[in-house]
Amino acid sequence: MQIGSIQLAPGAALAPMAGFTDAACRRMAARHGAVYTVSEMVSAKALTFGDKKSAQLIANGETLAPYGVQLFGAEPETMERAAALIGGYAFDFIDINMGCPAPKITAGGAGSRLLLEPERCGAIVAAVVKESGGRPVTVKMRTGWDAQHITAAEAAKACEAAGAAAIAVHGRTREQMYTPGTVDPAAIAAVKAAVKVPVVANGDIESAQDALDLLEATGCDGVMVGRAALGDPWLFGEIRAALAGQPLPPRPTLRQKMEALRTQIYEMCEEKGEWTAMPQARSQALYYMKGLKGAAALRRACCELQHFEDVDRLIEKVYAAGNR
Ligand SMILES: Cc1cc2nc3c(=O)[nH]c(=O)nc-3n(C[C@H](O)[C@H](O)[C@H](O)COP(=O)(O)O)c2cc1C
Repeated sequence: MQIGSIQLAPGAALAPMAGFTDAACRRMAARHGAVYTVSEMVSAKALTFGDKKSAQLIANGETLAPYGVQLFGAEPETMERAAALIGGYAFDFIDINMGCPAPKITAGGAGSRLLLEPERCGAIVAAVVKESGGRPVTVKMRTGWDAQHITAAEAAKACEAAGAAAIAVHGRTREQMYTPGTVDPAAIAAVKAAVKVPVVANGDIESAQDALDLLEATGCDGVMVGRAALGDPWLFGEIRAALAGQPLPPRPTLRQKMEALRTQIYEMCEEKGEWTAMPQARSQALYYMKGLKGAAALRRACCELQHFEDVDRLIEKVYAAGNR
């Protein structure tokens, strides 16, 4: 599949996740085969106010896979100004958030709230395209606001007409939030059928087989993985292998997992400083503990991480709990 002029290998993209998909997380995913990665969502309004924290979310460092910066906002003018402001950063495309269900985002008219106004979706894409400096503009959306407003296909058409180069669809409405078992492949397929640009299917992919199944059920051009890739970047390699019809690579050893955890947190500390990095590192570490023996004690140890050295103590506890 292609995003504008960016050619992508067959595989899965890393979904944008606020609080998680920082540069270290994106690099870890790309190293293991993510075909592209997306930043945490960045407030267009905050960028226009010169907010430094928002700008820090964009910096990428070493690029191992095509990288998109995701902006959220409700006003085409603000989105346009934000797109112009980030022009000096190193990234490959701009992604627009039309899926966030959080009340603090939708109350301002942004995120999934935009899906109630397909015309506005198009106006926002057009505004960002104007200032994207020729870099492709993509959109990530849900299937609609609620069961009475499944508007993704209409919104996607408006986005395509305004110049969007690809659309990613999380197969839930805003109302469904993250309720397990509610991903709707038919609603994703409807978006795929409505536009000519590539469509990427997202939602509840936890294995290579899930990726194959969602591709088949939706007819989409690619898949995107979020939560299941946290603490398990190897999933990207498995999906690549499955799509190539090859046997899946062996699961990572515990040592490989712990090395990845340590590397990721080390890079987080290097890039943001321990003070900012460690609270976020706690949530990342929790994902690396999934399925291990002594889970309750390990979870407590994750929550107590304060300094980088504590990561080594956590890893010692993992082995001491009898994990091999
Ligand atoms: C903690 C968290 C943060 C998220 N942040 C964003 C975000 O910043 N932008 C966005 O478009 N989607 C965001 N999402 C949604 C994911 O990108 C994805 O669509 C959703 O998790 C479904 O995919 P999954 O089942 O593979 O996790 C977030 C999801 C989670 C769980």
